[in-house]
Amino acid sequence: MNRALPAIQIISLVALAACTSAGAPTGATPAPAAADVQAGARIYAECAGCHGPAAEGTANGQVPALAGQHFTVIVKQLRDYREGERWDARMESIMAEHRFGDDAQIRKVAAYLASLKRPPAGGGSGEGAERGEAVYAKACASCHGARGQGSGARVVPRLAGQQYMYLRRQIHDAVDGRRPNFPVDHIALLAPLDADEIDGLAEFLSELEP
Ligand code: HEC
Ligand code: HEC
Repeated sequence: MNRALPAIQIISLVALAACTSAGAPTGATPAPAAADVQAGARIYAECAGCHGPAAEGTANGQVPALAGQHFTVIVKQLRDYREGERWDARMESIMAEHRFGDDAQIRKVAAYLASLKRPPAGGGSGEGAERGEAVYAKACASCHGARGQGSGARVVPRLAGQQYMYLRRQIHDAVDGRRPNFPVDHIALLAPLDADEIDGLAEFLSELEP
């Protein structure tokens, strides 16, 4: 095997380093390539009209927050839209455009987004968080982390601080077959949840510090 680490592995170490402030194990890790982050910021100008100037997403559940999401997760989702493995007309058409045909642009914009910080989005009714926390601890924390931080190395999305309505919609979309890139066993895990549990999970997660 080539001794040089593929870029994706190097950057996933960086994504892990971003978790250290949230209590993940510490260790010396390289900083993201500043040039990629800067180039990514320029690319992001094309995305900000929908995702917001600070990549905070929208409260109506349509557009997710991206700031602070793991590099590896963003790269995977963007490739999935490009390859028709995740459906959304807006994202599919952007990723189908010529300049996203290879992964270089995707990596840059992902490096930029992973470097951003934002406050929790919130947006729930204020009634379900306790119930959501209990379900989360039992069924979700083993992968998504005790505080919803996810894992760059394991390509598990950070859910902490995501928009409430978006989280709710993704869970329903996954169960109803509208998100084909969702692993089948993940859908099986979400399918038994009732509407109150889904609301509670979304509320609990949207309030956590990303
Ligand atoms: C026209 C509006 C629009 C533009 C422009 C746009 N997006 Fe999106 N984006 C969306 C919507 C809507 C979704 C949620 C789609 C879904 O439900 O799958 C989304 C989802 C995503 C996701 C998945 C996030 C997750 O948590 O799984 C990523 C990553 C993303 N966009 C990155 C980008 C990047 C990078 C750009 C610029 C190159 C961009 N988007 C431009 C509307 C837009
Ligand atoms: C076995 C590990 C595992 C467990 C357990 C798990 N997840 Fe996930 N989850 C993942 C992975 C991996 C993805 C990314 C799937 C993909 O590539 O689209 C994901 C994606 C998601 C997303 C989409 C995030 C986004 O940004 O669009 C939501 C929401 C979610 N999970 C909620 C939950 C909830 C709620 C539970 C508990 C009921 C749970 N997950 C349990 C591994 C897991």
